[in-house]
Amino acid sequence: MKTLVAYFTYSGNTERAAKAIASAVGADLFRIRPVVSYPAEYASCTRVAKTEKNTDARPALMKIPTREEFDRYDAVFLGYPIWWYDAPMPVYTFLENVDLCGKLLVPFALSGGSGLCGSDQAVARAAKGATVRAGTLLNGFSDAEIAAWAKKHLNM
Ligand SMILES: Cc1cc2nc3c(=O)[nH]c(=O)nc-3n(C[C@H](O)[C@H](O)[C@H](O)COP(=O)(O)O)c2cc1C
Repeated sequence: MKTLVAYFTYSGNTERAAKAIASAVGADLFRIRPVVSYPAEYASCTRVAKTEKNTDARPALMKIPTREEFDRYDAVFLGYPIWWYDAPMPVYTFLENVDLCGKLLVPFALSGGSGLCGSDQAVARAAKGATVRAGTLLNGFSDAEIAAWAKKHLNM
């Protein structure tokens, strides 16, 4: 099964998990990056993120896989940090600009302590035509635990 790990990260935690998944299952990596990057200063970042959530913004992305590039994948792991009890808005920009029809989508998230807060259900609503698994919070998972979790989803 040709697999992609698409992820958004701000401080690197989601990226570490994404890389562990990719190396465990032999997947490609795609980082979701907005054109306008978030402020490096944490408090400013939380303010920008809150405004984006409240306005249901769709920040433009630096790159979106072309149809040809994205068609190659049968399964997509989608990773993000929990931001204001949701996925960051660039994740929705991504989901609304790729064709997920017929693909398996496996959401995972990292948080500062809260749960998924229904973000996996919101992701599922945005992922038109995909088979979406229940999301998993990977807080505290070792690389070995992440590998086992990822392989299970692909029946490896
Ligand atoms: C803008 C912003 C909003 C956040 N909101 C939440 C939240 O609602 N609940 C929570 O548990 N953690 C929240 N956090 C913490 C992150 O989810 C947590 O630090 C995560 O591990 C970051 O992943 P990353 O390193 O891939 O960016 C927030 C962090 C930021 C920057």
